[in-house]
Amino acid sequence: MRRFLVTGGAGFIGSNFVRYMLEKYPDYFIVVYDKLTYAGRLENLQDVAARFGDRYAFVKGDICDAETVESTLRNYQVDTIVNFAAETHVDRSLLTPGAFIQTDVYGTFVLLEAAKKLSLERYHQISTDEVYGQVLEDRSRETDHLKPRSPYSASKASGDLMVLAYYESWGLPVTITRGSNNVGPYQYPEKVVPLFATNAMDDQPLPVYGDGQQMRDYQYVLDHCEGIDVVLHKGKPGEVYNVGSGSEMTNLEMTKIVLATVGKPESLIKHVDDRPGHDRRYALDVSKLRSLGWEPRHTCAQAIAKTVRWYMENEWWWRPIKNGELYQAYYAEQYSQRLK
Ligand code: NAD
Ligand code: DAU
Repeated sequence: MRRFLVTGGAGFIGSNFVRYMLEKYPDYFIVVYDKLTYAGRLENLQDVAARFGDRYAFVKGDICDAETVESTLRNYQVDTIVNFAAETHVDRSLLTPGAFIQTDVYGTFVLLEAAKKLSLERYHQISTDEVYGQVLEDRSRETDHLKPRSPYSASKASGDLMVLAYYESWGLPVTITRGSNNVGPYQYPEKVVPLFATNAMDDQPLPVYGDGQQMRDYQYVLDHCEGIDVVLHKGKPGEVYNVGSGSEMTNLEMTKIVLATVGKPESLIKHVDDRPGHDRRYALDVSKLRSLGWEPRHTCAQAIAKTVRWYMENEWWWRPIKNGELYQAYYAEQYSQRLK
């Protein structure tokens, strides 16, 4: 594996992964293939383009567009696809589920077809702990049944099943990682940690859904990237690997860490109407990936505090997003009733 197509590489995790891989492997070439939806931004990669211009290329394209996918793979002689491209926000999946089926299911199929046709060395799918559904006790293992409960997680689970079908039916060398909640630089500020950090900086309320007792494993994005790297190099085709910090906390605990890091009072916390179908808890058993020699480097608390500090130091990145019309319209639709 030397020449990668990283789909969705202009998004949050994808852009961190591209930077991590180009820094670590001086002989790797990466083509980022991204539709640049509201969540995909070239600013996320501007330093990458400047530092690694001879080993990096960008193609604007949709993973649902089979012709452009195939011509890009041929033009750049790609041997490995890593698919981050997806619609990713659970709240948006409750507003526009069709977009999730299109990209997360049909788009995955288009990439698999291209990988099969060109006999690529590896197809790697970035998936999520949400495909297991909520787990009130114990931890999800890779062999557990999938019980997704939102349009987002149902689309991601469908994508996973299609990936495994290409392994079983045609022997396509696939791997899948299922990650827990990521936090870190360049996460679009509709996701809870950057939303709360930036609201706190502006003395705006932090809208906690329901009682705030939902449990999440907030992992640092570069720990996730290292896990994907390990699976790409040591993982077995046809296998699934969970990636998470192995620790967890309630949303209310997360919110208090955000406020303490920004230095703002807990009176900014506002409990609002819950997300419909809100999964109460996710928790991953990550022993399979650990057995390949991987270890997370951050606890949830460290990951959240480090992330909040990045947002405090990088207003240039998030302020134009939050001031934009698209964001304001989304915020009004999602929160104006709730915050009344
Ligand atoms: P993101 O929303 O920040 O980025 C998604 C990227 O995909 C954007 O750059 C967007 O432009 C691109 N994209 C969307 N539709 C596309 C299409 N049809 N064709 C080409 N590009 C398209 O997402 P993220 O948080 O970085 O998540 C990346 C992947 O990781 C997703 O597959 C997601 O399901 C998975 N994941 C995310 C988390 C998390 O906590 N953020 C956790 C586990 C798994
Ligand atoms: O678990 C992995 C998943 O994590 C990824 O697959 C998704 O792509 C990613 O978006 C994330 O999904 P969540 O729904 O867990 O993330 P979100 O940041 O939207 O919400 C985290 C928790 O915070 C969740 O319990 C809902 C709650 N929340 C969220 C928002 C946006 C609030 O209480 N208030 C909010 O305003």
